[in-house]
Formats: sequence, structure tokens, C-alpha cells
Amino acid sequence: MNRRTFLKTTTAATLGTIAASNFSFAADAEIELTLGEPGAVISPHIYGHFIEHLGGVIYDGVWVGRNSKISNIDGIRKQFVDDMKRIGAPNLRWPGGCFADGYHWRDGIGKSRPRTYNFWQSRMPKGTDATEPNQFGIHEFMNLCRLIGAEPYVAANVGSSTPQEFHDWVSYCNAPAGTLSLADERATNGDKQPFNIRYWGVGNESWGCGGTMRPQEYATLYRKWTTQFPAYVQPFLVATGPRGHSADGDIGWTTGFFENMRGYQPPDGFSVHYYTDLRPTQIKAADFNAAEWYEVLLRGIRLEKVLQDHWNEIGKFDPAHRTKFVVDEWGVWYKPGEELQPSYILSEPITLRDAIHTGLTFDIFNRHAEKIAMANVAQTVNCIHSLFLAQGDKFVRTPAYYVFEMYRAHMGAKQVPVENPAKDLKVTALGGPAALPGLSASASIRESKLTVTITNPSLDASVPVRVRLANGANAREAKGVVLTHQDMRATNTFTKPDQVKPTPYPVKIEGNALALTMPKQSVGLIQCEIG
Ligand code: AHR
Repeated sequence: MNRRTFLKTTTAATLGTIAASNFSFAADAEIELTLGEPGAVISPHIYGHFIEHLGGVIYDGVWVGRNSKISNIDGIRKQFVDDMKRIGAPNLRWPGGCFADGYHWRDGIGKSRPRTYNFWQSRMPKGTDATEPNQFGIHEFMNLCRLIGAEPYVAANVGSSTPQEFHDWVSYCNAPAGTLSLADERATNGDKQPFNIRYWGVGNESWGCGGTMRPQEYATLYRKWTTQFPAYVQPFLVATGPRGHSADGDIGWTTGFFENMRGYQPPDGFSVHYYTDLRPTQIKAADFNAAEWYEVLLRGIRLEKVLQDHWNEIGKFDPAHRTKFVVDEWGVWYKPGEELQPSYILSEPITLRDAIHTGLTFDIFNRHAEKIAMANVAQTVNCIHSLFLAQGDKFVRTPAYYVFEMYRAHMGAKQVPVENPAKDLKVTALGGPAALPGLSASASIRESKLTVTITNPSLDASVPVRVRLANGANAREAKGVVLTHQDMRATNTFTKPDQVKPTPYPVKIEGNALALTMPKQSVGLIQCEIG
């Protein structure tokens, strides 16, 4: 395949020029990085998580119970804690999802907890007892966050609750010890010190399971829910945003919401849900062909346009862009039929294809770092785009987990602007011929350490790449890591947990450039010191 892909990375000053190559390494793709003017800080929270009371996510995935034979810390699966710590998981969103707008927080505190209806109950296989036992409530959630070192992000109930119930929950969590009666009650239940939760979601999918509202109705409730908010700590309030994977991107929701917020305090965060939603197709999670590989990736990268469109729309109402995106649900969602077990609804196998999708998604987030305050994969364990599958004493890291590990270095670093490749990869997807960017990349710098991540989506061709440092910057101590497999369907299973994992990969320093060959179907991480 004779493909010249120019991957050009510039600041405005160098835009429109590609320096002629002085190097012996014959690169198909050239990334030019101008390090002098780094961009926005990549919020560490972009690499965030989400767990919901649904199928096998909380019960079994996270919570095994204090008397379990499975290794646990106060009832929480130890392996989950260890592996989340290992990737520096920055936050956890909880308790939903659709569950959140039916959840009443008092059911999950104290010694005697009621069994209650769970939103997902009616979607469970016939005969399964899916009653919510409420064993995992706010204290258990906060313990989990503390164990991991993750910041809590709590989604409050707007769909079937009241502003008072919300405010009481916030006070219960955040009022200083010895002040409100609610703080005393929290202490009686084991936590004298306040939780100091900053991130609050004001409802979830209020256009759907969160209340089937119109944007103007929701904007009214949003104002009611937030005006009397007990601000013990400076909050970061997230309003329900669009269903970004709708055919029209759901721009009307964004317009309607912000129109009805004119003259009021805008939210800190505006939620965007973007699922690469394959449920209406026949594409399977585990077994697929080349066209289906490309179809998933093509649908995945539409996210970039969705973010840009909604950003432009918000800018009409809030030109200063005080409100940032919180992409609090994203992932590849296949149709039912491949669950880990029938009652673990929405669980699915995660393959190399989904790892590639993860790399493409993170590159989009990094490149749009100035717009995004947070993102949360849906969901961390046993659901949709999982990092882990867990069943009793069995536990495995999926290929997606390792992409989180590889991209960790971007967290909190300064974005180095990267423009995506000019030359496209011609592919055949389900609808026929299509074009996909030949490579995806993003870059960041922290002090003198440069991190570049690159994804090659091609099933056929490896791509020689040169990362050129402009303005005479020199690279030292270059290291590479690559995640790939010869089989595009490769996955990790309980019995073969190490099929897909990153391995060290050679990167050469040639003058002021880094040179490597990106294997087909791979995600790569390159790091070096800048001298
Ligand atoms: O992540 C699964 C579900 O998808 C969530 O509960 C809901 O918010 C979304 O529709």
C-alpha cells in the first residue's frame, strides 16, 4: 500500500507548512510538534469512570460483601481497587445512569436498609431477582473513592425526587462535623468527617429515563435544584446535556436548555452522552469482519463533530464558554446477546477493536482539552465499554484497560496541539467505501517530558512515522510501548487474561525527530525527555 500520510502538528505560527525531511528514515506520516506554545491543560478527569446499580456492575463487579471469600476491603473487591489505583483513576461517577433518577439516598444509609425497586429490574431476564438491596450506598461509595484515590461525582435524582431531597443529601455529605443534624447522622453512620463532594450531576438523561422532559422543562428544574444548593464546598454542577449519538446529534436539546437559562448562572458542566451505538446493527462484539471493524471506528470518531457542533451552539449563548463539557457516558455499545451471564445485562466482550476505539476517543478528548472538564467511560466493570470483567472469583482486565494505562501520562499535562492526518485511509465499511483518518494522534508535555499517543486503525498496513520536534528541540531517552495483536478479534478472557497487553516498542532518535513504525491495528505510546 503506497500511502503518504502527513500528520501535521503545529501551532498557528507553523500552520500550513510541512518541513522537508532531512532524515534517512522513510516516513509515511510526519508529525511536527512545536513545543514552545503548549495548549490547554488536559484535565486528569477526562480519564474518568462510571459505575451504576445495573446488572453485574455494583453487585459482584465492585461490591462482593464483607463476608465474601473473594479478597475484599470492607466488602469492596480488592482487585478492582488495586487495578483502578494502578491507572490513577481520577474520579468515579455513581449511582447512575438511569438508576440515579429513581434512587433515594436514604435507602442506602444506616444499618437496616430497605429492598427497593431498581430501574433496570424490568430489563432483567425473567425470574431473576433484581431488587435493589441497597448494600452499597453513599458511605460504601465514598470508601471506594478513598481507597482508589478517586474524586466522587454523584448523579442526583431529579426525575422522581425534590430539590429538598437533593439538598439534604448534599448537606448529609458535606456539612462540617458537629453542625447540622444531618452531619451528626453521617457521623453516627460511620463518617464524622464531611465527604466534601464537589461534582454533582443534576439528573441524568432528563430527556429520557431521567424524566422524559423537554429542554425548557428541564432548565426550569435545573434552576430549582441548584438555586438553594448548600455550597459547603465550591460545587461543580453538571446539567443534563444531549444524547450526542442521536441521528441529528440532539442539537435542539442544547439550544433549548441554554435559551431557557438566559440571565441565570450557567452550569459548570454540561453532560454529553456519546455511545458508539451498534444496537440497531447486526455487528457483534466478539466476532466481526473487516467492514465491521471500520464501521465501529467510523461511528466512534463522529464524536469529534458532535463536540464541536455543541460547543459552537453553546457559544451563541455563552461566548466566554464558562460551561465545559462533561462527557459522562461514552463507549461502544453492541446489541444484546453476548453477556458474561444473562443477568449481567449490558455486559459484552471487549476486543482489540474496542481498544483502538478507546485510543481514537482519547485523542479526540486530548485535542479538545480546552472544552472538556471530565469524561466517564460507560462503564468501568461488567457493562458496555468495560475495563474489567468480573464474575465471582474470576476477574480480567480487558484490552480497553491497557489504553487507559497508556494514556495516563496525558493526565494533567499541557496539550501540544496536533492536527489530524491530511491523508485518509480508504476503507470499506458497512455502507460501502469510506474514509478514516490514516492515523490518530495527540500529544502533551509535562515539564520536560513529552508524551505522544498514536493509533493506527488500519487492518493492512503498518505506518512508518516520524515525530519531528520543531524549533531545534532535541529528544533524549525515547521509550515506546505498543498495544496490538495479529488477530483483530483478540481479547482477554478469564482463562487467557494476557492476550492483549502493551509491550515495549523500539523508538529511534534521529536528530530532532523520533522515528518508529506503527504496526497495523495498534495503539502506541511514545515518551521522551526534551533537552
Ligand atoms: O450506561 C447504561 C445506560 O445508558 C445509563 O444508565 C443511561 O444513562 C444510558 O442510557
